[in-house]
Amino acid sequence: MKYFLDSAKLDEIKKAYEDYGFDGVTTNPKHIMASGKPFRKCIADIAEYVADKPNFPVSVEINPHLKKADEMIEMAKEISLLSPNFVIKIPTTTEGVKAARKLEQQGVRTNLTLVFSPSQAIIAGKVNAKYVSPFVGWKEDNGEDGLQYIKDIVDIYQTYSFKTEIIVAAVRTGKQIAEAAKFGADIVTCGLAVYETSFNDPYTDFGLGVFQDAWDQTVTD
Ligand code: E4P
Repeated sequence: MKYFLDSAKLDEIKKAYEDYGFDGVTTNPKHIMASGKPFRKCIADIAEYVADKPNFPVSVEINPHLKKADEMIEMAKEISLLSPNFVIKIPTTTEGVKAARKLEQQGVRTNLTLVFSPSQAIIAGKVNAKYVSPFVGWKEDNGEDGLQYIKDIVDIYQTYSFKTEIIVAAVRTGKQIAEAAKFGADIVTCGLAVYETSFNDPYTDFGLGVFQDAWDQTVTD
């Protein structure tokens, strides 16, 4: 399973790549805003950092106000020229699907985002989007079962051998990471804090205390 970092902050992206060997990055307009930089400066800085990392994809979202496929395609093409690592995030609307299909046909890789149902995921597979992003956390924040639809999407993709990779997005807990892996999703994406919490366990800390006591009572040379 691949780990993508959900952030547009360069210090976090560096940490994810250099300390943990993560596999890619996803951003969205909220993350760009949180970086404190203007949109184009933010993505230019990321493009510069990933320039020598060919296998480190970065999803960048188009202006969410764009409604028509032609406008989406125009902006997607412009952004994609900034870095070969960039994958363009397009909302899964009727026009977004049209745009993603054309972009993929023209060699621009896409990530169909804001996916909340298996039927939205199916069309992402059919138009050959590079990625599809179902938002597990948003579902669960609203009291829905966010994991069953992930399982359904994985099952459907396997049945039809879709090549699109599934990014389980808006992940909030280590349990969601593990469930996504159990179901066979390709990728998870979440913030650094969620990952770092998932690397730990209270029993590990407890066990360390036990071993520290033993160490202190042992003659060491
Ligand atoms: C996915 O690609 C999105 O960037 C992201 O996961 C959205 O979720 P958030 O609410 O955690 O920002």
